[in-house]
Amino acid sequence: THVVTENCQACRFTDCVTVCPVACFHGDDERLYIDPEVCVDCSACISACPVGAIKEEFDLSDDEERWIEINASRAPDLPVIRSKQSPLPTAEARRSELGLN
Ligand code: F3S
Repeated sequence: THVVTENCQACRFTDCVTVCPVACFHGDDERLYIDPEVCVDCSACISACPVGAIKEEFDLSDDEERWIEINASRAPDLPVIRSKQSPLPTAEARRSELGLN
């Protein structure tokens, strides 16, 4: 499955939802999570995210493995996000900090 990791926080760009064929993204006010029961592993979202927040679970570092459980447990309780929304006010600063713009 695919997993939304650390970099989504402070960004929430939501470009990922526009390429997802199965609407597997759910969100709270801070970030998005992928429902692993719905994700079909197409990988379209990986390159869509401006801050590289989405990874295939087998590509996660040891530090990032905790995100598997966080996505799986949070996603089902939150609304599905299907369309692009405004990024968080901190998004561009975070992208610069990561050297990704
Ligand atoms: Fe987050 Fe990237 Fe999507 S910042 S909302 S995973 S496009």
